[in-house]
Amino acid sequence: MDKPAPADHPVHDLIGGRWSPYAFSSEAVAREQVLSVLEAARWAASSYNAQPWSFLVGLKGDETWQGVYDCLVDANRAWASEVPVLMLSMAHETFPWNGKPNRHAQYDTGQAVAALALQATDLGLFVHQMAGFDAEAARTRFAIPPGHTLMAAIALGSAGDPDTLSVPPAARERAPRERGAVSTFTFAGQWGEEARLA
Ligand SMILES: Cc1cc2nc3c(=O)[nH]c(=O)nc-3n(C[C@H](O)[C@H](O)[C@H](O)COP(=O)(O)O)c2cc1C
Repeated sequence: MDKPAPADHPVHDLIGGRWSPYAFSSEAVAREQVLSVLEAARWAASSYNAQPWSFLVGLKGDETWQGVYDCLVDANRAWASEVPVLMLSMAHETFPWNGKPNRHAQYDTGQAVAALALQATDLGLFVHQMAGFDAEAARTRFAIPPGHTLMAAIALGSAGDPDTLSVPPAARERAPRERGAVSTFTFAGQWGEEARLA
C-alpha cells in the first residue's frame, strides 16, 4: 500500500513515500538491511558530534524483541506482534567527555531516527515509531543506565496486508495523510507572525 504525502511543494520521493504503517509483514529483514538503517542513524548530525543516540535492537524470536514487545502499550501490541524488528532508542543526556548536560541529545536522537527511517524507505522497508511503551519497565528489563532517556520504540519491516488489522488501526491505516500547511509553522519578524514565503 502506498500513501504518498500530498505535498504542496515538491519533496524527494523518500520523504513523500515514508509513512508509518500498522500492518507489517512477518517477513524477516536481512541483517545487512538492519545494519544499513543503523548506519544511516550513525551518520546523522549531532551537537559537538556527540552522537548521543543508542539503540536496543530486537529481531523477532530473540529476547530483545520480546522485551521491547512486552513493554509496548496494549494499543501498540495489537498491531506490532508480527513486526520483524523492534528497537528502542535512547538519548544520552550528558556529554561523555565532561559530564555536562547535552540539551540537544533528544533532538539529535530524533535526527538519527529520521535518517534511519529514510534509509528504511529507500530499502523498501517501513518504520513506525512509538511513544506508547512503558519506559521504566524497559529501563529495568534492559538495565539502561541513568542519564540515557528512553525516547521511542521503533518497528521496522515490510508493509503487510491492511485487511489483517483489527478495527482501530485499520481505519488509521486507510486514513488520508494530513499536515498543517508550511505557513502554520514558519514565522518571520516575531514568533507567530506568518513568514509569507509563498
Ligand atoms: C515519537 C513518536 C511517537 C509515536 N508514537 C506512536 C504510538 O505510540 N503509536 C502509534 O500507533 N503511532 C505512533 N507514532 C506514529 C505517528 O502517529 C505518525 O508518525 C503520525 O501520525 C504521522 O503519520 P506518518 O508517520 O504516517 O506520516 C509516533 C510517532 C513518533 C514520531
